[in-house]
Amino acid sequence: MQKIIIAIDGYSSTGKSTIAKQLAQTLEYIYVDSGAMYRAVTLYALQNGFINDDEFQIDEFVHDLHKVHLKFEFNPDLGYSEIVLNGVNVEKEIRTLEVSNFVSQVSAIPEVRYQLVKIQRKLGEDRGVVMDGRDIGTVVFPDAELKIFMNASPEIKAKRRYDELIARGDEVNFEEVLRNVRERDYIDSHRKDSPLIKAEDAIEIDNSDLTLEEQFDKIMGLVKMTLEDYE
Ligand code: DC
Repeated sequence: MQKIIIAIDGYSSTGKSTIAKQLAQTLEYIYVDSGAMYRAVTLYALQNGFINDDEFQIDEFVHDLHKVHLKFEFNPDLGYSEIVLNGVNVEKEIRTLEVSNFVSQVSAIPEVRYQLVKIQRKLGEDRGVVMDGRDIGTVVFPDAELKIFMNASPEIKAKRRYDELIARGDEVNFEEVLRNVRERDYIDSHRKDSPLIKAEDAIEIDNSDLTLEEQFDKIMGLVKMTLEDYE
């Protein structure tokens, strides 16, 4: 059967990775969390002193970018791949609010985007990929056969991210998480290089009032229709 690329873009905490993982497992496709790559680069900047007391030494950081090596490693227990930064699995470290607070600034840097888009295109060269992010359907794979654009109300997005952080044992308050979600969405959609916008041919799904099952059924229906078109 023909393999396609499924691009899932949208605002933060709209459940992109949840549906992307479900689709990848069902279709036996590769799942790529492009946000994890931007988060890992941000973690590198934090760990190596490029971000201090809210000051970000961008030029020095860009100069050091060649030292950042990223790859994905399949975790058979989870059924999907996890991000590895310079040989260390950093899947947990990249999900903190500290990383979330800086990731939009890091991902607005053109040199960072250039490097990561190159890796993302390589991962999708044989198709059979579900990739989620902000610019997958517009920049990384403008020729993706199926493009989904996810949205939900800010409060619902913040509640989802808050529940996730609390479940991990992080001490956060709801207002702080809501502020981060709003700020990130603003920066991500207003940056110069590859801003978050809905691709013209993307199908928008607002999942504020959808259960996970309803969402899966709806999107799987779109996948089946797309696959039929490419038979
Ligand atoms: O999907 P996420 O929330 O883990 O992504 C973290 C940040 O990375 C997001 O705020 C913007 C950035 N990002 C991006 O600029 N382009 C992508 N394709 C994916 C993520």
